[in-house]
Amino acid sequence: MPTAVEVIRAKRDGGVLSDEQIRWFIDAYTRDEVAHEQASALLMAIFLHGLNAQELGVWTDAMIASGIRLDLSSVPMPTVDKHSTGGVGDKISLPLCPLVAACGVAVPQLSGRGLGHTGGTLDKLESIPGIRTDLDQDAFVRQLSDVGTVIAAASADLAPADRRLYALRDVTGTVESIPLIASSIMSKKIAEGTSGLVLDVKVGRGAFMTDIDRARELARTMVGLGRGHGVATVAVLTDMDTPLGLTAGNAVEIQETLEVLQGGGPADVVEVTLALAEEMLELAGVDADPSAALQDGRAMDRWRRMVIAQGGDPDAPLPIARHVSEIVADDDGEVQDVHAMGVGVAAWKLGAGRARKEDPVSAAAGVVLRVQVGDPVTRGQVLAELHSDTEEQLAAGIEAIDGAVRVGAAPVSARSRVLERIRAS
Ligand code: URA
Repeated sequence: MPTAVEVIRAKRDGGVLSDEQIRWFIDAYTRDEVAHEQASALLMAIFLHGLNAQELGVWTDAMIASGIRLDLSSVPMPTVDKHSTGGVGDKISLPLCPLVAACGVAVPQLSGRGLGHTGGTLDKLESIPGIRTDLDQDAFVRQLSDVGTVIAAASADLAPADRRLYALRDVTGTVESIPLIASSIMSKKIAEGTSGLVLDVKVGRGAFMTDIDRARELARTMVGLGRGHGVATVAVLTDMDTPLGLTAGNAVEIQETLEVLQGGGPADVVEVTLALAEEMLELAGVDADPSAALQDGRAMDRWRRMVIAQGGDPDAPLPIARHVSEIVADDDGEVQDVHAMGVGVAAWKLGAGRARKEDPVSAAAGVVLRVQVGDPVTRGQVLAELHSDTEEQLAAGIEAIDGAVRVGAAPVSARSRVLERIRAS
């Protein structure tokens, strides 16, 4: 049997780990038989030396094998999920899941909560009065069959090795490693039991990956892992230099979701939603027009069924913040830039996000932009509203958003959000 020190030394010296060493290490760490400091050392060695394709496949496999794998074979439609690497104002799962379900493809979404400047889909969904996201496995599969989509929290027994390793990476400076990110994301998605997967890999100042070459490498690595595990996987690279849509927060993003489901909403949110929906339908081999399903109310109908099935009231008023402050333009001109990180940090400081996993979030807090890049503005015009429950948080949000919306004289042309599609590793 391998020992932890032998495995650490092998990777420290730039060697290749055997299948047995990897499987043993992950299993032993999940069972508390390898110490945190030993796992930390191995993570740093992997951060520095990487994993080759064989090692990465086995590492991911071992993380999947650390917990349960959902069986979705009773669902009477093809299953395709979507995962985003996270960004500011990224509410796309909310309109996308019911939209794709309305087109005949089941979307089993196990989602996460936000940390720092990026919001989590569950936090946003939970601003709907009454809604539950802690479904057990039977309820999850039943709703998927009946409604065609579920957005729920991943249970602790899905890839538990990742839960432990991710917490450790967070405190040991080993998060930003492509093999570790790819195996972390893909182990959870493969364990979820979906047949197909579309990855939205965000690139830009508000994303995990600020550099397009690294984003491409991450996307190719994840596509390869998915296919290697029998999950039809494609990736779409999308721009995250500026916030997606006009809202960043919780209830404010639900409000924007409802606008999209009513056939309106910001053009960039609609563009990304439709691009991902088309990829998901293609993976499932379903020939349908998602744009028509947004316009004619079928996607909205599915949204309402999903919310009701999860105990929520789709007609209940959304929470409203106690304090609202406006940011106004100092000059006439055109909006040159809206800095995603500035807006994301402001939403977080206003109370919409959390610094630690255990922190509560405010449903009502967030940023509502009134302009996007390229819009003409006049001096005194409102550029953004900040929503918060407390005056202290409001002051912190005002400080964080300072300079994030830049107005100038140069003409600015609109850009597409969808940068590239990656279908092979
Ligand atoms: N999201 C994950 O689930 N894992 C990572 O490593 C990074 C982002």
